[in-house]
Amino acid sequence: MSTIDSVLTETRVFQPSADFVKQANVPGMAAYQALCDEAERDFEGFWARLARETLQWSKPFTRTLDESNAPFYKWFDDGELNVSYNCLDVNLANGNADKVAIIFESDDGTVTRVTYRELHARVGRFANGIKALGYKKGDRSIIYMPMSIEAVVAMQACARLGITHSVVFGGFSAKSLQERIIDVGATLVITADEQVRGGKTIPLKPAVEEAFAMGGCEAVRNVVVYRRTGGKVAWTEGRDLWMHDVEKGQSDQCEPVQVEAEHPLFVLYTSGSTGKPKGVQHASAGYLLWAALTMKWTFDLKPSDVYWCTADVGWVTGHTYIAYGPLAVGATQIVFEGVPTYPNAGRFWETIQKHGCTIFYTAPTAIRSLIKAAEASPDHHPKKYDLSSLRVIGSVGEPINPEAWMWYYNNIGGGRCPVVDTWWQTETGGHMITPLPGATGLKPGSCTLPLPGIMAAIVDETGEDVELGKGGFLVVKRPWPAMIRTIWGDPERFKKSYYPEELGGTCYLAGDGANRDTDGYFWIMGRIDDVLNVSGHRLGTMEVESALVAHPMVAEAAVVGRPDDLTGEAVVAFVVLKRARPDDAEAMEIAKELRNWVAKEIGPIAKPKEIRFGDNLPKTRSGKIMRRLLRVVAKGESVTQDVSTLENPAILEQLGKAL
Ligand code: WT7
Repeated sequence: MSTIDSVLTETRVFQPSADFVKQANVPGMAAYQALCDEAERDFEGFWARLARETLQWSKPFTRTLDESNAPFYKWFDDGELNVSYNCLDVNLANGNADKVAIIFESDDGTVTRVTYRELHARVGRFANGIKALGYKKGDRSIIYMPMSIEAVVAMQACARLGITHSVVFGGFSAKSLQERIIDVGATLVITADEQVRGGKTIPLKPAVEEAFAMGGCEAVRNVVVYRRTGGKVAWTEGRDLWMHDVEKGQSDQCEPVQVEAEHPLFVLYTSGSTGKPKGVQHASAGYLLWAALTMKWTFDLKPSDVYWCTADVGWVTGHTYIAYGPLAVGATQIVFEGVPTYPNAGRFWETIQKHGCTIFYTAPTAIRSLIKAAEASPDHHPKKYDLSSLRVIGSVGEPINPEAWMWYYNNIGGGRCPVVDTWWQTETGGHMITPLPGATGLKPGSCTLPLPGIMAAIVDETGEDVELGKGGFLVVKRPWPAMIRTIWGDPERFKKSYYPEELGGTCYLAGDGANRDTDGYFWIMGRIDDVLNVSGHRLGTMEVESALVAHPMVAEAAVVGRPDDLTGEAVVAFVVLKRARPDDAEAMEIAKELRNWVAKEIGPIAKPKEIRFGDNLPKTRSGKIMRRLLRVVAKGESVTQDVSTLENPAILEQLGKAL
């Protein structure tokens, strides 16, 4: 679903209302332009000013940007602070102590509220508890938890002690968990007995046991378990501890460990085009600065807002826009445990109404599935709910097609709320290209303009700027504070992936193709590498291929993406078995087996939507698989490209047929 194709379906530009502009944090285009100009004029001065105004430093920085070892940039690097102090203690001091920090909406609708004072105390107790177990600055923890207040407590407690956390999405398999435990060198795992989603319980602690049984996790000394359901779990005395027991008897006050600005706050694994997922390493100060600033800029956050981001803490959106950003600006936020369709398709709208949500941030996939659901069950159509509290609505994770944008704008935003379509990535730490709701004129399907200080551009393969209207590679020409610092344990891969020599070595390559229209608006066209975006989840085709070939029956596999109305892209796998090509009946069975296998190897999100079996794959004479052609046949289209370099053109016809 190329956004560019659909541009013509909606050519109106939606300007913010005068009332919105008047009260906005960035009021109007002139205010936006003034910030951009400041950044152009005095790049370092701009960032230094914002860092001083936004964060509390235990030791002020004197150096803003160190480019001496580019592309390993350092920001504010002689300064020191503590991230958890900035998210919690600061709110106790500035009058937010009794303000609700988190409204937890559980799967079954039970609500738990915690104030900043209570959250501070819980983080203090838990941090003291893990400190008593011997964990300290520089250690790494794995957090494998459901959406919960406890997950935020765990992340904040690690930040308080300078422990670098790596959150693993609860939907990832034991195998994925084991790989991350090993790669990051974790000594502590924080998990839950089970998670609850859509009325069902899903085990988490058992997956940790399974990961350990695969070996290589011997460095882990403790598994701390949040009791969510009370479901039965295996227990290793001495190693396993309940979260409430770790907190028991501990003081509410835990002295924050002040860390250098560049101290790694977290490592979050994400898919690349080759090999295993890469551990994206983020720093402390620059990351937090951007989390806080973008809360105010992109969402126009005010003290009275009730903000809700529906992402999971297992993804970067849940880091920046749940665990850190909202707390750093003293917001009241909803944390939601459940799924959009339980107990019915009105769950999001009902929850907005119930809590008087004012800022709502979700993914195009959710919007598209709820459009369908609203049509199918009129009782739970958004118009049945009072959504008048909303004032800003956002989108993240994949291109939003103009049709979905218009539905969101009209049905959820009531034609009144700016839609902020935020383009960013795990690597960027926070929003990069996005409308400012009180400034930017909106074009459905465009993420519009870069934030002040973000020097985004579109270049060709030599790094030259392309003309407006000509597509190319999306790059960022200057570093920014929240940027990825390196790939954990693999600085070479960091350089190669993001700062290729071809582009001069100091220009960040995002991995997306993009276009700019004559107003300078950015239109994201999707990935230029072998990374897929399925329901806003990032997946490497190579990852799925390696999972498939690990199955004893599989000789060879090639995986491509196919546009999908609901999930954006869908995974299509072409498989050559070690035995003869199966007939249709058998193929169905084997396909099912392989889909479950991939779910076990990676996680259910990676399951191929379709598997086709062939005697071979389309290869060049030198043996290279022509994925380009597979993308065409996956769509059910016939190949019109030149296939003269193919060794076995006849194979395309065989693979062209769906089961
Ligand atoms: C990739 C990053 C952004 C945090 C969650 C996903 C795609 C993301 C948009 C958008 C078009 C988007 C890009 C990007 N993407 N937001 N608003 N419009 N595409 O983070 O898992 O690191 O994925 O998601 O292709 O490269 P991620």
